[in-house]
Amino acid sequence: MRILVIGSGAREHALLLALQQDPAATELHVAPGNAGMAGVATVHHDFGSVADPAAVTELAQGINADLVVIGPEIPLVAGVADDLRAAGIAVFGPSQAAARIEGSKAFAKDVMASAGVRTAQAEALNPGAAEEEIEGVLDCFGPTWVVKDDGLAAGKGVVVTTDRATAREHVDAVLAAGNPVLLESFLDGPEISLFCLVDGETVVPLLPAQDHKRAYDNDEGPNTGGMGAYTPLPWLPAEAADRIVTEVCQPVATEMVRRGTPYSGLLYAGVAWGAEGPAVIEFNARFGDPETQAVLALLKTPLAGLLNAVATGTLAEQPALEWEEGYALTVVLAAEGYPAAPRKGDVITGADRGGAAVLHAGTARNGQGELVSAGGRVLSIVGKGVSLADARENAYDTLSHISLPGSHHRDDIALPAMRGEISLG
Ligand code: AMP
Ligand code: GLY
Repeated sequence: MRILVIGSGAREHALLLALQQDPAATELHVAPGNAGMAGVATVHHDFGSVADPAAVTELAQGINADLVVIGPEIPLVAGVADDLRAAGIAVFGPSQAAARIEGSKAFAKDVMASAGVRTAQAEALNPGAAEEEIEGVLDCFGPTWVVKDDGLAAGKGVVVTTDRATAREHVDAVLAAGNPVLLESFLDGPEISLFCLVDGETVVPLLPAQDHKRAYDNDEGPNTGGMGAYTPLPWLPAEAADRIVTEVCQPVATEMVRRGTPYSGLLYAGVAWGAEGPAVIEFNARFGDPETQAVLALLKTPLAGLLNAVATGTLAEQPALEWEEGYALTVVLAAEGYPAAPRKGDVITGADRGGAAVLHAGTARNGQGELVSAGGRVLSIVGKGVSLADARENAYDTLSHISLPGSHHRDDIALPAMRGEISLG
């Protein structure tokens, strides 16, 4: 199978490394890729935009791809999967109509309402909203306000705050940018990322993971795309993960079929486990980053065959997934200034020393051939171990030998879980 992966992050690097382990994958390509992927796949840097369906289809046809795996949400929401399918190419990733589950929070709420899935209550404000209307909506929420940009914002368009003035500022900023803004009730309880392979009504969950979204230790600082993750979750019993499938993912898959827009690809349910069980914070139409780096590190089932089964509508015929024992943990090394204004062009050293896996995201080569930073999240270091403590040690030991001027990372990935501080209440 000749496989083309679309994307350029550490998630796509993890996908490529897992695909490489599958003998069914005979040739790997990636576009636009990054500096760390050259050893794993043929990198097509300059093929055009990932959001351009015609450009992606032309590339896939040019290399005679048997399967295209779409990593990020932007091409999915732009309809790249539809164009590829129309050209007769198997693709892992939902149609434009199904990807709205991530692309429009209002659409996701509508699907959840029809499917009877628990989620936060929300009110929308549109650009041009009057002063009284804005204040009236702010009155309906609190003491913790959740203010979201109703568009694709990679987790960075959300402000969660107990300060009403800060909430108002974000409302004004989103409206001023010409986007609708959503205010939501605050969902309490530990967060879980559950990734499910979905092929119509067939839903197969991967190991549950937890992301660390805030920029700094102890969940301080701004929301980011994710600063680290670990899997599985020692505090989440297997029955609880099953409940997320039966109460959230399965009803949504069934509802999408009922609407005539069946889902095919990865459905990412981001839930908070509150007093009544799981409630949805968000859906994504793709693998999560950085959770994927940890989850795929433990997957024993060959990935190419699995993704191809989803793409060709045969997921129900696949044997049960197999996993390695133990734990995997990702820690993200971020550039100075991330998430607001990451600095680029700093030289990275020590990334190829061995130890834990070092996956590349925002990296490039400069004129001298040196590895340099080229984005906000620069590297994902993925440690494994028989215990969470071992996985942490493995990842952080490797990280300690990597240098990137001005960079920052969290030191507390999985620490609350290891200390037994997380429970389902
Ligand atoms: P989102 O972009 O919707 O994934 O939101 C990013 C992060 O903001 C989530 O991972 C949560 O940590 C937080 N968040 C979003 N919505 C809520 C909510 N209704 N209640 C509590 N936290 C939330
Ligand atoms: N880890 C959060 C995301 O992928 O959206």
